Amino acid sequence: MKRLDGKTALITGSARGIGLEFARAYIAEGARVAICDINLGAAQAAATELGDAAMAVHLDVTDQASIDTCVAAVETAFGGIDILINNAALFTAAPIVEIKRADYDRVFSVNVAGTLFMMQAVAKGMIARQRGGKIINMASQAGRRGESLVAVYCATKAAVISLTQSAGLNLIEHGINVNAIAPGVVDGDHWDGVDAFFAKYENKAPGQKKKEVGEAVPFGRMGRADDLTGMAIFLASKEADYIVAQTYNVDGGNWMS
Ligand SMILES: NC(=O)c1ccc[n+]([C@@H]2O[C@H](COP(=O)([O-])OP(=O)(O)OC[C@H]3O[C@@H](n4cnc5c(N)ncnc54)[C@H](O)[C@@H]3O)[C@@H](O)[C@H]2O)c1
Repeated sequence: MKRLDGKTALITGSARGIGLEFARAYIAEGARVAICDINLGAAQAAATELGDAAMAVHLDVTDQASIDTCVAAVETAFGGIDILINNAALFTAAPIVEIKRADYDRVFSVNVAGTLFMMQAVAKGMIARQRGGKIINMASQAGRRGESLVAVYCATKAAVISLTQSAGLNLIEHGINVNAIAPGVVDGDHWDGVDAFFAKYENKAPGQKKKEVGEAVPFGRMGRADDLTGMAIFLASKEADYIVAQTYNVDGGNWMS
């Protein structure tokens, strides 16, 4: 018996990176997974690679009509959604005096409003089915503490931790557990982008920031997407039924709280 046998999952932003690794791990544990991403071509390629247990659906978490269409399509295809992972996010960095309002709006719209309104859309179906569910939000160590050049992204991830607490407290009466994972620094396309910001603002050579943050992790290296799958499976499983409104650090020891 696998830990997610018979379960269905919708993972936002899962065409690449951590979300794609979650999809792979969930399928290996017996779940069917909807790869939902703004990049439909990449989502389709991922679903093809993952096989019959995966389907690709276009999703823009900043657009309510897109959320409603995507959630309805996955509910119809799978007969309901048992697990939602709010994983889609954007990163941005700039000194306070250079932050543009449009950039603030863009990043908050994906990371915060996207998380909230995906939780809402999926929770409605979970409540109607009366079978409970699991919602996992992707926070970050960036949500635990501000960073000099990363005000907007840090604030979005602090908001994700707060939304996880409020939604967790509100939805547990329906048997829906809302929790979050706070990764540290995870190698991949996302961190290549982060490295480029620091190369610009801290005058570092490309790759230098990545090297520094990896060496600073108590575990001794940057995280990999597959370092996070154990927590994502656990929080989606029956073993996590009594866990409500928590954010777990999975970061090689970077942060303690
Ligand atoms: N990589 C890290 O070091 C790190 C650290 C802490 C937290 N996190 C968090 O983990 C999650 C995954 O990170 P990642 O490194 O895999 O990121 P990533 O940038 O590699 O992947 C993000 C995915 O989200 C999709 N996306 C972007 N905007 C979207 C939208 N409007 N609607 C739907 N999909 C959209 C992208 O197409 C992409 O496939 C994010 O929430 C991120 O903030 C990552």
